[in-house]
Amino acid sequence: MSEIVIDIVESSVQHLAIIMDGNGRWAKQRDLPRLAGHQQGVEAVKRIVDECVQRKIRYLSLFAFSSENWGRPQAEVDALMSLLLQFLASQQQKMVAEGIKLHVIGDLSRLSISVRDALADVEQKTSLGENMTLILALSYGGRDEIVRAAKQAAKQVLVGEIEIDQFDDSSLTACLDTAGLPDPDLLIRTSGEVRVSNFLLWQTAYAEMYFTDVLWPDFGSEELDKALNEYSRRKRRFGLTDDQIDS
Ligand code: FPP
Repeated sequence: MSEIVIDIVESSVQHLAIIMDGNGRWAKQRDLPRLAGHQQGVEAVKRIVDECVQRKIRYLSLFAFSSENWGRPQAEVDALMSLLLQFLASQQQKMVAEGIKLHVIGDLSRLSISVRDALADVEQKTSLGENMTLILALSYGGRDEIVRAAKQAAKQVLVGEIEIDQFDDSSLTACLDTAGLPDPDLLIRTSGEVRVSNFLLWQTAYAEMYFTDVLWPDFGSEELDKALNEYSRRKRRFGLTDDQIDS
């Protein structure tokens, strides 16, 4: 109960999650190849990381590549992976200097060894960062994460590490890729689509949702402020009544 009360009193966003959508449409509107949209998408990522650090948002989760994205044309998958590598190489020094810690979630076994190595290297180099944690969801699917967590939990029960009757919400939470991180307060999705598309399914149980028609490459400080202002007007009840919250 005390944790819930702390969340309600804290009206600012501690953990922001974003489904970055609309890179392809941004490019199409300009008669450009999809890759140009993804390149501008990376610029938007850099912008929003800076904006979140300035606003003292402690956790930023970005849906960068879903488990379903593996089904895109190989050339697009390759281009996204090389944009990711360029992003890591160009940002790691800045991340260390600004105290931004990288944390990667998803089924990393499907990524190439070079991508995995680059991610592990930046995670290690930024591990002491205390200002913000940047959570990149790569090869990520919410259901897949829950299945992997359930398997891990089942193993813990089988070897007697945990009693089945003691097994609760927090036991599964501890097996997720996001173990130890707070749940998102606000989930933003760009590009006008109004769905969560398998992103952080367990963790967004009580997140506020904000949908905007703005395409991801056009998302910037003004758009972020609109979302944060809207969030500050929302009343989070976590299943309780208005009277309970007010008191
Ligand atoms: C959705 O746009 C976006 C993605 C599938 C990938 C998001 C990737 C980036 C922003 C760039 C890489 C990120 C990092 C962190 C380096 P879409 O292609 O689905 O757009 P559409 O729906 O308009 O076609």
